[in-house]
Amino acid sequence: MIDKISTLGGYIHEYQKSVENPQAFWSRIAESFFWRKKWDKILDWNFIEPKINWFLNGKLNITENIFERHLFTRGDQPAIIWEPNEPNDENRVLSYNELFLEVKKFTNVMLNLGVGKGDRVAIYMPMVPELAIAMLACARIGAIHSIVFAGFSANSLADRINDAEAKLVITSDGGYRGSKIIPIKDIVDEALENCSSVEKVVMVQRTNTEVSFDESRDMWWHEAMAKADEENKAELMDAEDTLFILYTSGSTDKPKGIVHTCGGYMVYSAYTFKNVFQYSDGDIYFCSADIGWITGHSYIVYGPLLNGATTVMFEGIPTYPDAGRYWDIVNKYGIAQFYTAPTAIRSLISMGQEYVENKDLSSLKVLGTVGEPINEEAWHWYHDHVGKNRCPIVDTWWQTETGGISISPIAGIIPTKPGFATLPQPGIQPIIVDGDGNELSGKSVEGNLCIKYPWPGMLRTIWGDHERFKKTYFSTFENLYFSGDGVKRDEDGYYRILGRVDDVINVSGHRMGTAEVENAINEHPLVNESAVVGFPHDIKGQGIYAFVVCGDLSTGGEEGIKTSVRKGVTKIIGPIAKPDKIQLVRALPKTRSGKIMRRILRKIAQGDYSNFGDISTLLDTSVVEEIIKGALEDV
Ligand code: PRX
Repeated sequence: MIDKISTLGGYIHEYQKSVENPQAFWSRIAESFFWRKKWDKILDWNFIEPKINWFLNGKLNITENIFERHLFTRGDQPAIIWEPNEPNDENRVLSYNELFLEVKKFTNVMLNLGVGKGDRVAIYMPMVPELAIAMLACARIGAIHSIVFAGFSANSLADRINDAEAKLVITSDGGYRGSKIIPIKDIVDEALENCSSVEKVVMVQRTNTEVSFDESRDMWWHEAMAKADEENKAELMDAEDTLFILYTSGSTDKPKGIVHTCGGYMVYSAYTFKNVFQYSDGDIYFCSADIGWITGHSYIVYGPLLNGATTVMFEGIPTYPDAGRYWDIVNKYGIAQFYTAPTAIRSLISMGQEYVENKDLSSLKVLGTVGEPINEEAWHWYHDHVGKNRCPIVDTWWQTETGGISISPIAGIIPTKPGFATLPQPGIQPIIVDGDGNELSGKSVEGNLCIKYPWPGMLRTIWGDHERFKKTYFSTFENLYFSGDGVKRDEDGYYRILGRVDDVINVSGHRMGTAEVENAINEHPLVNESAVVGFPHDIKGQGIYAFVVCGDLSTGGEEGIKTSVRKGVTKIIGPIAKPDKIQLVRALPKTRSGKIMRRILRKIAQGDYSNFGDISTLLDTSVVEEIIKGALEDV
């Protein structure tokens, strides 16, 4: 088992060791896992090619580290507690033994379908236990899971299936989200019209809604499981075999398939879970994310289960049946650690204090946030009203690419400061550089956040595009991993994340590429071109502001076009990409060489109509004046 850091001195000591001799440090942590064959070499790397290999020639299966390793001591302990959308419906509690049995059965379903090591499996599901079962079953047979958040459109799902050339899709008839029923299978059917690689679809019955059923392709989960053999041996995986792909948005059009591998991801997700949340045996832990995002991968499923923890999986939304739902769950299960996103906190604040005020939250020990900067008001509300001034808040900075928490307090050990992710986790060596890549050393500096040494949980490549991997993360600054975030290190040496410095916006803690949204808007028949930027949004953190140039406004009028643009974006990407504000403009501010001056649009979107800096390269300055006038009229 992984030892927890238990004092500030202990953290400083561990951190120093991890920097002085990273390989010895990670080797010691990795020793606490079950390897079928130990590695020959800890690390082989360079950030030039780039090449990152951890635990070379080590052989393992991550699910043996979840199941076989824990069954003797905690076979009957709950592994997953599933809380359904409707609070009065029956929940499901799966012990380690029960979860293991389901996983083994589902591995046999997949093996019978001819799915095996290295095959890609797309999972598009609501938050039901079968989602976790499916992903663990993939890991057990060495199939690579690619989970697509079930809020994405058919078009986005198809792109991801095609990029990974998935052979199997695992889905459900529908999904419950608050008072809504999401027609999951219909979306899959639409996506699969354009996916030639998919041979089979396995469908969980959840909403019992009527769905189409293609006899040659579709099968029901419960029917396949009823016939499935219960025995299964885990596939022998190399430490550097791919465990999963998870798509995330970047500054260019197509989402990137981030690749994580078996050995390093296992060690890193488990180590950070145990330390950051200070998980102790018997604690019930609840992360409110969706498994379709990296937070759910690392901190609902892999990190907790690798530590033999009890993890709560919630099907619904924070405001159903009312805005006290999270607090009811905390009370119902006696949650010790609760992990959510600032956007959820802000939306609950806006609903009023009465939903949290008289709830018994005395079981809570640790609160966490993730996904976006947390503003001080939200931090204090969380601290005072949820944590009752007793629970440390871990503001955890990390990314799909980092695999696990990278800069964050260790609960109760690293003193917190509102708005600060505080200090790096052991093994993470942050470096702040200016625009030319010069290190800004010392305290009280601000610049681009990079990491100068590999850590086991980092991404290894972009699926099918190593060149893009190199260009995106290792070419901006030589020999450094570039996160895409701006950061400040204050006089105490604490890190405060300032947000993205590239063309990515962070909407409710989810990454959206501006180019991706622009391309979706440009699909509209009346749109000539568009530019999308972020702007401060009270609940979402950042909202999406679209400046749109239309050829002809006579069809449908301004409002009609705005509505149809929003509909189009929802259809092409999904509701999370729907612009909050659309301003129709005659032209975009462009330089003489035709480049859109986004910094001007960002200022306007923020409501700052001055200080545009040097605009002498603008082709036509009257465009800016017109846009400002239009923005003011819209306010
Ligand atoms: O901008 C940072 C922001 O979220 C980005 C990563 O997004 P994603 O890959 O979707 O992963 C989100 C969950 C790990 C980062 O580049 N971000 C994440 N955590 C924080 C944050 N910004 C500020 N504070 C955080 N704690």
